[in-house]
Amino acid sequence: MAVIFHLLNSVDHSSVLLLVSCLLLAGIQLLQRYSFSSWKQFFFTRRKNQLPPFISASLPFFGHAFAYGKNPKEFLLNAYRKYGPAFRFTMMGKTFTFLVGPEASREFYYSPNDQLNGEEMNSKITTPILGKDTAYDVPHSVMLEQFRLIRKSGLTRNRMEEYASVIEDEVTQYLEEKWGETGSIDILHTFRELCVRCGPKCLLGTDVTKAVNLDLYHDLISGFHPLVMTIPSFMQSAVFYKRDRANAKIRKIFQEIINKRREEPTREDDTLQRLMESKNKHGQPLTDTELIGIMTALMTLGTEEPSITSTWFGLFLAKHQDVQEQIYQEQMEDASGLDYKVLEKYPALERGLKETLRLRPPAFTFIRKCRKDKDVLDYTLTPGTMTCISIIVNQTLPEIWGEDAEDFKPDRFIDFGNNPRQQASYTPFGAGTHKCLGPNFAMLEMKTIWATILRKYKLELPSERFPVEDRTTLFLIPDDKKVIYKKR
Ligand code: HEM
Repeated sequence: MAVIFHLLNSVDHSSVLLLVSCLLLAGIQLLQRYSFSSWKQFFFTRRKNQLPPFISASLPFFGHAFAYGKNPKEFLLNAYRKYGPAFRFTMMGKTFTFLVGPEASREFYYSPNDQLNGEEMNSKITTPILGKDTAYDVPHSVMLEQFRLIRKSGLTRNRMEEYASVIEDEVTQYLEEKWGETGSIDILHTFRELCVRCGPKCLLGTDVTKAVNLDLYHDLISGFHPLVMTIPSFMQSAVFYKRDRANAKIRKIFQEIINKRREEPTREDDTLQRLMESKNKHGQPLTDTELIGIMTALMTLGTEEPSITSTWFGLFLAKHQDVQEQIYQEQMEDASGLDYKVLEKYPALERGLKETLRLRPPAFTFIRKCRKDKDVLDYTLTPGTMTCISIIVNQTLPEIWGEDAEDFKPDRFIDFGNNPRQQASYTPFGAGTHKCLGPNFAMLEMKTIWATILRKYKLELPSERFPVEDRTTLFLIPDDKKVIYKKR
């Protein structure tokens, strides 16, 4: 202290003022650079290793929101090149930690839920759509039990054996009703129409498919929007009124279906009936609120992600006529009726879908909240850290996928089995603690739909331009969805 006073005494007042101003400015810069939660983490948490590097921003509060919003993939790739596999940055007053590459992402996927927690962030999106008491609205152990009942009721090998022919019939009927010799379609709309007929019919029952129309479905999924994460809860119902209105209508419709089934003496043997009759590990049946939530989850998940993947796949096929021709020839070599074996058959079709899921995974960024210290490579994530990964970045890293990483080349999957780093970076259905419940169903649904369409129709793009990603939505959808079909 004495030394400081001595130093201060030995300089004139204007120099002191200058020094104090500089210190103040530096202090303000530091405060802006680290959000409140970072400071809290810095001072109050036990740290084995250091926090991941922080990418400073010149704009307070907004931070990197504009750069990230404009092109998240480019932003994350640049950051990865400069700062390595873990880094932090601020957007809209919140600090996010991103993990990039297979090694860091593995830590994300395989962390137990009480360390990197899924429900705290995800429930903001899913609960208003699915309703209370389901999925991320309940403790993880209850959610796992609900998933076990779904698997047992609708996703066993026996159940899945029935689905391919149901889907093939639906698609054939749809094409007869809606498509002629040639025409132009909004391919996302087409696939939502198709999948909302196929998914819920297999995963729930015919009465559910009949009761839900596409407009209601559209309104419900308008809640899959990035703004859900930032708009304060008291303003949500004003902004997302369509979502909430659709949710209320769907709950009413599903409750009526459940009541009607209970009153009817004859019983369907479908997934919904099995769910209604199932008991959890404590011997309790699912409550009506849980049942309705599960029905809504199966309806939306069985529809939205397969529709978006199929949309991009259709666009890629329309652009890459050689790939489309190869898949068509494969179908002509075995044009038998479609059944469960569709999952093992048609390798060219499968490679095309896998390549689509690599380049355009419908769900491309995941988030968890750190609840206990978590070591990741040389760093420690501390409680409160919002931790994210971007599978679209992992699935296109040139050092793993080659210089042609951005090109649509389904044949790269011929050698996939011999490349452990590519395997570790390819997670379109997630992995570990929160791995997707429905990869087999989704592949069965998409392969059956596409085999049925491509046996009869050829697709083309209306112009040279290939659509780019629409960055305003939570799922990765194209900005232009027009495709031309022609009867073969
Ligand atoms: C192309 C189709 C699909 C894709 C690309 C996909 C992708 C994903 C991904 C990446 C996750 C992990 C999310 C995370 O880690 O936070 C996930 C989770 C999930 N998926 Fe899928 N999915 C698809 C279809 C389906 C279908 C058809 C169902 C239902 C039958 C389903 C049910 C679920 C459920 C319940 C979870 C939550 C798992 C958890 O948090 O523990 N998905 N999906």
